[in-house]
Amino acid sequence: MAPLIAPSILSADFARLGEEVRAIDAAGADWIHVDVMDGHFVPNLTIGPAVVKALRPHTRKPLDVHLMIAPIDPYLEAFAEAGADHLTVHPEAGPHVHRTVQAIKALGKQAGIALNPATPAKALDYLIDEIDLVLVMSVNPGFGGQHFIASQLRKIAAVRTMIDKAGRDIRLEVDGGIDAETARRCVEAGADALVAGTATFKGGPERYAANIAALKGLG
Ligand code: DX5
Ligand code: ZN
Repeated sequence: MAPLIAPSILSADFARLGEEVRAIDAAGADWIHVDVMDGHFVPNLTIGPAVVKALRPHTRKPLDVHLMIAPIDPYLEAFAEAGADHLTVHPEAGPHVHRTVQAIKALGKQAGIALNPATPAKALDYLIDEIDLVLVMSVNPGFGGQHFIASQLRKIAAVRTMIDKAGRDIRLEVDGGIDAETARRCVEAGADALVAGTATFKGGPERYAANIAALKGLG
């Protein structure tokens, strides 16, 4: 099965964000990946709930919101109200990640857990029965355009085993350094959703459909 593709709007033209979201939607994006960074949990600053809210009318595809902020709990409601569909959090972003997952579910949203490159799959042991999504980071979070860290393929395989054993409907998404080649390796390891910033937006709007097809292995 071809993986779901979630273009990261971090690589879009920020001055034309609504238009860019409509373009990737039309080009075959499955989800719209929104990278939220606070300049504290990660060394970069991006966008907040106001931008998520402004983008909401531009697509009916799920808004896959990746929160790289600490503290995390005080902001969940604002992103939920802004129209996020998935709220993905890092266990390192707060002292009580299980409570954070409960809070996301109580807001009626899909809960995701993001694993940094050095965070083991084991961090999911007592969360796997509560969550809807695992996001394996194949770069250190903070910036687009970084190189894929190959050691994460083993983690993808380990998480795939955990998900299959849990027998629940959980997406396994990979984020960072995804191109047609690393996409293929991630899918082989067990991923079913891929984030791609650089690889989606390269070449401009007339290339988006071909870029997304290549990531799905259909290019
Ligand atoms: C990194 C972000 C990624 C990033 C991916 O912190 O979570 O979503 O934008 O960008 P590329 O696909 O360019 O590696
Ligand atoms: Zn991301």
